[in-house]
Amino acid sequence: MDNMINITIDGKQCQAKEGEFILNVARANDIFVPAICYQTKCSPTLACRLCLVEVDGKQVYSCNAKVKEGMEVTVNTPNIEKERRAIMEVYDVNHPLQCGVCDQSGECELQNYSLYMKVDAQNYAVQDVDRPASDWGVMKYDPGLCIVCEKCVTVCKDMIGSNALGTVKRGAEALDKDYKANMPKDAYAMWNKLNKNLIGFEEEKCIDCGECIAVCPVGALVSTDFQYKSNAWELTKIPASNPYSSDCALMYYDVKHNTIEKNTEKRIYRVTNDAHYVSLSGAARFGFDYVNKASKDEKAFSSAVESLKNADSIVFNSFITNEEVAILQNIKEKTGAKLINIDALKYKNFLENYSSVTGKTFYNGTVNDVHNSNFLISVGSFLKSDAPAVKYAFNNALTMNKGAGLYFHPMGDTHIKGFSKNIETISSNVLSEEAVLYFVLDKFGKDLPASVVEFLASQNETRTKTVTETIKEKVVETVTDEETGETKEVTKMVPKKVSTEVEYVYTKLLDAIGTDESLLEILEKYLEKKDTFSLIIGEDCINHPNSENIAKLAGMVEKYTQFKVLVVPTQTNTLGVSLLCDLDVIASGKTVGYNMKADFQLSALGDGELDMPVMSQQEGTFVNFNKTVVPTNAAITYDGYTLNDIANEILDQKVSDTIDYTSMILNKIPFDYLENHYTNDMAEHRGYVLESKEVSSLDETVKSEFKTLKCEENEYIIYSGNPINQFNEFTAVSNQLKDDIVALYLSQSLKEKLQLEDDSKVEIISNGTTMTLEVRVDSDLEGDISYVPTFDKNIDTKNLFDNCRYSKANLRRV
Ligand code: SF4
Ligand code: SF4
Ligand code: FES
Repeated sequence: MDNMINITIDGKQCQAKEGEFILNVARANDIFVPAICYQTKCSPTLACRLCLVEVDGKQVYSCNAKVKEGMEVTVNTPNIEKERRAIMEVYDVNHPLQCGVCDQSGECELQNYSLYMKVDAQNYAVQDVDRPASDWGVMKYDPGLCIVCEKCVTVCKDMIGSNALGTVKRGAEALDKDYKANMPKDAYAMWNKLNKNLIGFEEEKCIDCGECIAVCPVGALVSTDFQYKSNAWELTKIPASNPYSSDCALMYYDVKHNTIEKNTEKRIYRVTNDAHYVSLSGAARFGFDYVNKASKDEKAFSSAVESLKNADSIVFNSFITNEEVAILQNIKEKTGAKLINIDALKYKNFLENYSSVTGKTFYNGTVNDVHNSNFLISVGSFLKSDAPAVKYAFNNALTMNKGAGLYFHPMGDTHIKGFSKNIETISSNVLSEEAVLYFVLDKFGKDLPASVVEFLASQNETRTKTVTETIKEKVVETVTDEETGETKEVTKMVPKKVSTEVEYVYTKLLDAIGTDESLLEILEKYLEKKDTFSLIIGEDCINHPNSENIAKLAGMVEKYTQFKVLVVPTQTNTLGVSLLCDLDVIASGKTVGYNMKADFQLSALGDGELDMPVMSQQEGTFVNFNKTVVPTNAAITYDGYTLNDIANEILDQKVSDTIDYTSMILNKIPFDYLENHYTNDMAEHRGYVLESKEVSSLDETVKSEFKTLKCEENEYIIYSGNPINQFNEFTAVSNQLKDDIVALYLSQSLKEKLQLEDDSKVEIISNGTTMTLEVRVDSDLEGDISYVPTFDKNIDTKNLFDNCRYSKANLRRV
């Protein structure tokens, strides 16, 4: 456990983690300290200076001052109150009086603090400058409203990893000199800085996550879609969980009536989050608007009941709640239908093999472990698209913990490279994940099984290299005195470069990975002063032809090294499905699909035989990547039939709501008992954590033959991956994300190599399938591997791949 120390704030005894900022300790103890610019989990921006407190007689910024044993903190002193009041006055200088139409009105920190500090007069003035508004795609920036707190810059850099925002010159006149002499010191310093800057944007670096909108304390950064649509206080917040990826992050659907005339009908106006505790992906934030407006179609319902009763196989994916999964399992038990979910089956098999080494049902890592690490490795994840929350945690650990990391993936990705100078992105060989994990075991493993030790030893060879170092050499020089002509000998130490041959141990695993000995040097440098380790296991490992072996090697990393391991579930509820269903391998006979193509389709997209509710119309639970069962609520009512209605007919029962199943599954806790919020101490109160149980059948035999995928002339590797913010057919149809299409996404260099134009189409021949797609450049991408999305269930891009995310393809311009 972290070392705890004792401090007092305004006379209250508080326990604090060593190294924690005073502001966070105050918040955890429900003591209010005014603060605008500090973003929790990010570095202090020190822009607003409101968080001043007095510590042992001296003024400090509580967002930047760390606690010390016995410290006595006072939040309010007459001088601090004077500073804060002047700061708020300064913030109000030239701030347009447009609160009536501003999106932030009602939840604006400038409004709140101006009232709190009782600003009722203005003592300061400066000539205003023309500050035209900008359109930045998913968001709009109004510099007229911007208080240059730089929170947006900080969150984009320290959390999201995009570095798309920075300060630019405001071009304002200097402040009147008298202010420096006469006004409160901190207020002047804050104003002087504010008066010089505005915020600038680099479009090509932005990934449209919208987190900067979430942290902006005023109306300077607003959602383009939401602008001028509603007052904040009219919206009702419905707590929910991100329906698109296994972070299942806590978010809120902000809803109100759709029109003035027909105010019973509700719609979602935006998605918001508690940005101090959790950051959202762009998919969660912007992919909310599609809802299914179906009504009860009795004829379609009867044929759905018949089809499911007689189905040989039920095909579904893992964008589904635990309760619906339990219903499908019950139907299987009654009718004998096979349950087919390839995604969850692969994950389940992976976890079983993993557990056969560790002896525990679950991996030992969580995303918080990733946040708290100072040395990280990611293997087999197209991190920016596959798992945004894990990517944020990786970047956050690098920036906040003086961390270092290795990112192994065959596709070069400048977005990941841009995190920090202490990340090495290794364009590893396709299918080399086993070699990477053996490398991790070689470098970090202790008391490994004998067969592994033997294999690792067989990979080692002693090599020599030339090391050049600068030494100081003694040189004796004869110096002549210019005046007297006398000579004397002077001894000097002069730098000299010397080269020596040194022996070192080279492991042939580096060849298998597709890198060289420079990685050993980088690793040595990165590991200085590191003591908290995380390994991220991505989707490529689970979909690997040798996934069984990879799972065992990953299990060995958990068992024989200090790494915490996070095996990222591939879809929102992959882990939940894998725990709740007896899954079958191959579909046969008559198929019914739940949001999947089949002979008979139940579809929330409205393109099947019977409509179903989308996630924002459902109550239920997911099991997230932290092995936590989290609830999600319905924002919009659904008037059609549900899976529960169908099951009631087939199973001859009367379960009134889908969430009645919540108390029948996993830890059997009723839905209404599940919490879904964070507290000021950053603690998560969301559902419940599943306990890892002992597994008895252990098997540590691992293979040491690696798979490779080599291209012949004119062949290229294609990868099954999605552009950022696309996860399934629902993100694809949402208004703010629908510009993404199913295309071949490639690097600019590959586009040139294949002599393609912007509007070119390419014929892809792979795995016995031929498909023609448009091309799109992903400006982050480097190298010759392109990717083909899978987010649209109606375009069979999956057929280009055989049980693996990589495939060899012929690409021909048409
Ligand atoms: S845009 Fe908002 S978050 Fe960014 S500096 Fe301006 S006020 Fe702060
Ligand atoms: S939307 Fe996300 S990536 Fe773009 S500037 Fe804002 S925080 Fe950065
Ligand atoms: S919160 Fe500390 S300087 Fe703004």
